[in-house]
Amino acid sequence: MKILITGSSGALGASLKKAFPHAFSPTHNEMDITDANAVNKTILEHKPDTLIHAAALVGIRDCDENKEKAWLVNAEGTQNIVSALKKLNNNCYLVYMSTACVFAGENEKYYTEEDTPSPKNYYSLTKLCGEIVMRQYENACIIRTNFAPKGQWKYPKAFTDRFGTYLFADNAAKGIYDVWKEKKRGIIHIAGDKRISMYDLALLAGSKNVGKMTLEDYKGPALTIDMSLSTKRWKKYKIG
Ligand SMILES: NC(=O)c1ccc[n+]([C@@H]2O[C@H](COP(=O)([O-])OP(=O)(O)OC[C@H]3O[C@@H](n4cnc5c(N)ncnc54)[C@H](OP(=O)(O)O)[C@@H]3O)[C@@H](O)[C@H]2O)c1
Repeated sequence: MKILITGSSGALGASLKKAFPHAFSPTHNEMDITDANAVNKTILEHKPDTLIHAAALVGIRDCDENKEKAWLVNAEGTQNIVSALKKLNNNCYLVYMSTACVFAGENEKYYTEEDTPSPKNYYSLTKLCGEIVMRQYENACIIRTNFAPKGQWKYPKAFTDRFGTYLFADNAAKGIYDVWKEKKRGIIHIAGDKRISMYDLALLAGSKNVGKMTLEDYKGPALTIDMSLSTKRWKKYKIG
């Protein structure tokens, strides 16, 4: 079984490499997804049976301030992968990592796979565009999830009034592995079984000295406030 992972140096990528230890995981330099020729070349050389596409520009502020780059990576990059597989390796099973942030984030709505997306910011919009691109490829799964790596929170403070059915990156990778085993197609939500705030997530992750903040303290692009997901097509996972 030949598996190729994009975005393997990222937070999820590190966990994906543990879940799929024999996968080929080119770095950004080795395969820039915005370069169609580089994508074609890698796919021709490696002929993967499965491609897990986790590369993206993920910073909400970064995407908002660099729209051209965000579009190129998240929308056009996904198109390059889909086009390469369609042309060169049509039997490959493709997994696209999307996000709970494609939804509006209404309080305790617990969005399912059947709910209508309504992104709040440019990052989420480009991820949703990636989902639309994925419709060109039948043998594929779009996974929406929400996770953080274990360990120190990457910011000094965390929101007490933004929520989600979060998982740690290792849990999310396990969920992706389970979905991959069954070769599910269409949209699947990989959600945790309880709704917690980002601050509680930071504490659970083992962060030391992380401060509290609220949306009142925040200035920047619009945010998805409640990223809680439910699922009609899959099981839920315990965070831990
Ligand atoms: N973090 C979350 O809470 C969350 C939630 C739901 C869904 N997701 C999705 O899950 C996936 C992984 O997220 P993450 O948090 O692990 O992101 P991350 O830590 O920022 O990692 C992003 C990865 O993408 C790579 N990358 C960026 N631009 C690229 C390009 N042009 N060509 C090739 N590789 C490129 C990066 O490599 P370099 O660092 O070398 O540039 C890095 O390996 C993304 O698709 C994201 O949208 C994330």
